[in-house]
Amino acid sequence: MTTYGNAGKGESVNEQGASMGKVVSLCKSRGFIYPSSEIYGGLSATWDYGPLGVEIKQNIQNAWWKEMVRRNENIVGLDAAIMMHPKTWEASGHVDNFLDALVDCKKCRSRFREEALEKIRVERNTDSAVCPECGGELTELRQFNLMFTTQLGPVEDAGNLIYLRPETAQGIFVNFKNVVDTSRVKIPFGIAQVGKAFRNEITTKNFIFRTCEFEQMEMQYFVRPGSEKEAFEEWKAKRMAWYIDQVGINPKRLRFSEHGPKELAHYSRAAFDIEYNYPFGWQELEGIHSRADYDLKRHMQFSGKDINYFDAETNTRYIPYVIETSAGLTRSVLVALMDAYHEEELGGNGEIRRVLHLHPQIAPIKVAVFPLVKKDGLPEMARRIEENLREDFATFYDQGGAIGRRYRRMDEIGTPFCVTVDYETMNNRLVTLRLRDSMEQIRIPIEGIADSVRKESLLYRRL
Ligand code: GAP
Repeated sequence: MTTYGNAGKGESVNEQGASMGKVVSLCKSRGFIYPSSEIYGGLSATWDYGPLGVEIKQNIQNAWWKEMVRRNENIVGLDAAIMMHPKTWEASGHVDNFLDALVDCKKCRSRFREEALEKIRVERNTDSAVCPECGGELTELRQFNLMFTTQLGPVEDAGNLIYLRPETAQGIFVNFKNVVDTSRVKIPFGIAQVGKAFRNEITTKNFIFRTCEFEQMEMQYFVRPGSEKEAFEEWKAKRMAWYIDQVGINPKRLRFSEHGPKELAHYSRAAFDIEYNYPFGWQELEGIHSRADYDLKRHMQFSGKDINYFDAETNTRYIPYVIETSAGLTRSVLVALMDAYHEEELGGNGEIRRVLHLHPQIAPIKVAVFPLVKKDGLPEMARRIEENLREDFATFYDQGGAIGRRYRRMDEIGTPFCVTVDYETMNNRLVTLRLRDSMEQIRIPIEGIADSVRKESLLYRRL
């Protein structure tokens, strides 16, 4: 098969023709994601979301919010500050335990996380303790805290030191009592939050997979001690189903992976990752953790405040157990783009169609409207249709170039529906609705466009 552009040297290409290099190049050229501060040469491991990137990110966030908060009467939302009292991070255990074990190569200066080095050794079936890049000698293991620090206030003083949050979860735990006291939640209930998190990551290759500034979508589900196993299984199943049904990810590229005792985070009693099969192998997309009463108990201890929950049903007071679902929003954007990228040969003549088979719910533009030609009142009619659709959908109007090329441009950015106005439309008010995945074209009345788009979106299944 002829492919669209080249994958990077040594890069793997999946059965859909996707590679990391091709997705990065599409993201840059079509305005999804740019290197941050590019005019100054960029800044390592930071990225900016362009006009289409910000739409897809927001759509994934909205789909998650709808699934977690809107569809569940017993889950409420929160938006806590990024900067928190520094004691938060002593209580959470991050000051003492949020460490990466690192080794450096004395020869080529590459830096590795011990965990990643161990994985490479297992893959290569070797226990050799030399640099996997150049065979050079490695330094001793050193511990490195991943939290960024800064100063709050004008005086640079150790007493003003604060951290940028490395997870959104603690904003939820410190507000547990506020939410219980001010809303009518009863156990079991959840608190959900989306927001930025920061980690001074050492290994940051692979585009937006692991970055120093990223976004999380986290939900802490508070349950009666003793019922955590059931809740854990329930949320594992629900979270996996969300990626398949609502984000449109191919189930063959998703799996669960259980944390062994050595991998468990300091707060975790049990944990499963939802992993995706990236071009660089199976890696985490979301973590589901059983955190027991670790966090609330520690905050009670460090703050001196009573944050026990009174259960009116059992007439008892206790610290609830917690099941956490912790998804990466920016990492979900990467997975959605990687999974949707497809190169397809058209009509046996070697022409390649590059298309993003994005779920309509997350596609940055939902409906594009075109006049077939740029004259005889067709542009005015197409413009009116596009303007009427704007209230309900993210739309795009385009009158430049051959119609086939306009369809291809929309395929590349994942627009699921295109509407074309032609000469007949002027007489019978019928337009062509063109479906991205099947390339099927159907005639429908102008008044039925919004309903057809909604119906096709609801019925959406990846071909
Ligand atoms: N509150 C638990 C927690 O933060 P985690 O497994 O460290 O757990 C959860 O992170 C999710 O956040 C990951 O599955 C991943 O999707 C995302 N994530 C973590 N570190 C990231 C990074 N440096 N860059 C992008 N996403 C990251």
